[in-house]
Amino acid sequence: MIVKVENVSKAYYKIPVIREMSLDIERGERIVILGPSGCGKTTFLRMIAGFIPPDKGRLVIDGQTVADNGKSIIAPESRQVGMVFQDLALWPHMTSYKNIEFGLKAKRIPKTERKGRIDTILEKIQMVQFKNAYPGELSGGQQQRIALARALVTHPKILLMDEPLSSLDADLRQVLLREILRLQEELAITMIYVTHDREEAFSLATRIVVMKEGKIQKTGTVSQIKEWL
Ligand SMILES: Nc1ncnc2c1ncn2[C@@H]1O[C@H](COP(=O)(O)OP(=O)(O)OP(=O)(O)O)[C@@H](O)[C@H]1O
Ligand SMILES: [Mg+2]
Repeated sequence: MIVKVENVSKAYYKIPVIREMSLDIERGERIVILGPSGCGKTTFLRMIAGFIPPDKGRLVIDGQTVADNGKSIIAPESRQVGMVFQDLALWPHMTSYKNIEFGLKAKRIPKTERKGRIDTILEKIQMVQFKNAYPGELSGGQQQRIALARALVTHPKILLMDEPLSSLDADLRQVLLREILRLQEELAITMIYVTHDREEAFSLATRIVVMKEGKIQKTGTVSQIKEWL
């Protein structure tokens, strides 16, 4: 088991947002979290990434307790988790290369290794020719790929993706979905992917978690969830 979520709760200004959620995730799974706006999907991912501590409960990643009973124990940069955010959040004043390099610098990876890793990932996402472009010079889909590369280049064990394709048109979504699937299989990475698009969930998931009002309403395989919905 790579992620264990045990009775985790989180409130903002005393309003519960995550209510005693528990979930076990096996290595290599592609978990898709499906649920309406405001049900707590982003909050859940941010807790796993370590940006916010849960108020209660325990989080274990790869055998290590990373948060327990209101306290964060392991900082985000030491959790081996990569995240692609809902709003991308590429740094506008940095080129593609510099955007991807940022996390590697934070991990104090030497310059020559950084270059090797960045060149490899740029090739994988077919963005070599945009290495020195700034985000403002890239299309939405290209920016999305850079955000994906930035998350993957640190070789995370777990990839968290928060509606990474929601701003793209249907054709490009299909292309990038296939690319994400290919990379996930190639890198044998565990993925937690948030969306409120059912079709996207069905084409990506090995298991779907349906959330409602801060709780898990149902989990199951794609066919089980299709039947249930
Ligand atoms: N930093 C914050 N301060 C206060 N309230 C917050 C904060 N972040 C989230 N919330 C509240 O927590 C609830 C869950 O938010 P969250 O962003 O996790 O939802 P979501 O499922 O990701 O929704 P969406 O699909 O719209 O992205 C919402 O009611 C939101 O207003
Ligand atoms: Mg969200």
